[in-house]
This record gives sequence, structure tokens and C-alpha cells, in this order.
Amino acid sequence: GVDGPLAGKKVVITAGPTFEPLDPVRGLTNRSSGRQGYAIAEKLVRDGADVTLISGPVALPTPVGVTRLDVDTAQDMFDAVHAQLPCDVFVGVAAVADWRAKDIASEKQKKTTDNELSITFVKNPDILEAVSKHLDLRPRLVIGFAAETQKLEDYAKAKLASKGCDAIVANDVSTGVFGSNSNAATLVDLDGFTPIAGQTKADIADFLSTYIQKRIS
Ligand code: C5P
Repeated sequence: GVDGPLAGKKVVITAGPTFEPLDPVRGLTNRSSGRQGYAIAEKLVRDGADVTLISGPVALPTPVGVTRLDVDTAQDMFDAVHAQLPCDVFVGVAAVADWRAKDIASEKQKKTTDNELSITFVKNPDILEAVSKHLDLRPRLVIGFAAETQKLEDYAKAKLASKGCDAIVANDVSTGVFGSNSNAATLVDLDGFTPIAGQTKADIADFLSTYIQKRIS
């Protein structure tokens, strides 16, 4: 966008799951719908930001005015994010796989007579942490998400410190947020805890736009 409170600000957002292949036809993924990241992209572009959305595989339309880059793996998402730096704001909403298969089979794996199968996984890079700790191109504002089922505020505060980001949106998923609309979220930053009013992903997007405007104007 050209007009609006975020005009001239470049925002990079990750959204959705990643897909980590095991062989040409199989892989490891998760149930992230991408809806929260897409809602944030939609709101920020409406408020005038230049928004690049780096998306894992999801079944969602691209919000009007948003530049969307599709990726599958965490490593591809990491590379796509770094290719977008410098930016003013980074919001990591994607549910990035912590692990990928150490070896990806080049042919479809056949069923064997064994009753067990072992796969060795190796750690994926942490995109949020790498952006937060970038020596030359750290965005002015770096925001992450955290889903917790217990000790929401303790874990979110610890995550804020370990990842080096400026704020964490902590979601209480103990009541089952996946596929539901009841969603109790709190923003954690160096000033403390701010409960986010409202229940929906659009409410969280609205809150974040106001927060970003306050932090980078
Ligand atoms: O450590 P945890 O996965 O709970 O942290 C969640 C936050 O970190 C989210 O903002 C997510 O997008 C980000 N993340 C990431 N790269 C990873 C793992 C998580 O950017 N490999």
C-alpha cells in the first residue's frame, strides 16, 4: 500500500506449516492452516505496509496487495526470509518443523518385511532466532509466536530471551485452538504482559498492527 500508518515500512511475515520430504512422494508436516499469518498480512497491507508473505503449503488465497512467496521446507523458508532482508519488521508466524530427515530418498521407498522403521532427523535452523540475532540486517522489530498448553507467561518470557526477539504473541492452546475460534493470547515484551482483547485471528492482527505502529513510528 501507499497510504496508511505503515506506509513505507517493509514487513516480512512467515505463515503456514513447512513440509519436509522423506522421499519423492512422502513427507512430514503439521496442521497449521496459515490463517493467523495471512490475517496479519492482510491487515498490515491494508494499513499501508509493503508486505512479503513467505508461506508454507496452505489452501488460502493471497490477500490483495501482498507479495507471496511459496516454500516447502524450513531451509527454503530460512533462505527466502534472508533474501528479503533488510526489512523494518519481521513477524514469524509459521509453524516451522523442528526436524528434517537426515537423508531424503531419491526413489519412493518400498514397504519391507520389517515391523519397524527408523528415520534419523537433523535439526532445522530457527528462522526467528537467526533474524533476531542477525549481526548486520536485524529488523527494527522482530515478533514471534508461541503456542503453549501450560505456564503460558513463563515459557513466553523465556522464549523472548532465548530467541532474542522484541515480542512474543503467546497463545493458550490448552483448550484446543486448532480449528476453533476461542483463542486467549497475550503479548510479551520487555515491558511485560499485555492481554490481547478479542478472540479471533483478525483481532490479533488488529492488535499487532497497532503495536507495530507504536513501536516503529
Ligand atoms: O520454539 P518455538 O517453535 O515454540 O517458537 C515458535 C516461534 O519460532 C514462532 O514464531 C515460529 O515461527 C518460530 N520458529 C522459526 N523457526 C523454527 C522454529 C520456530 O522461525 N525452526
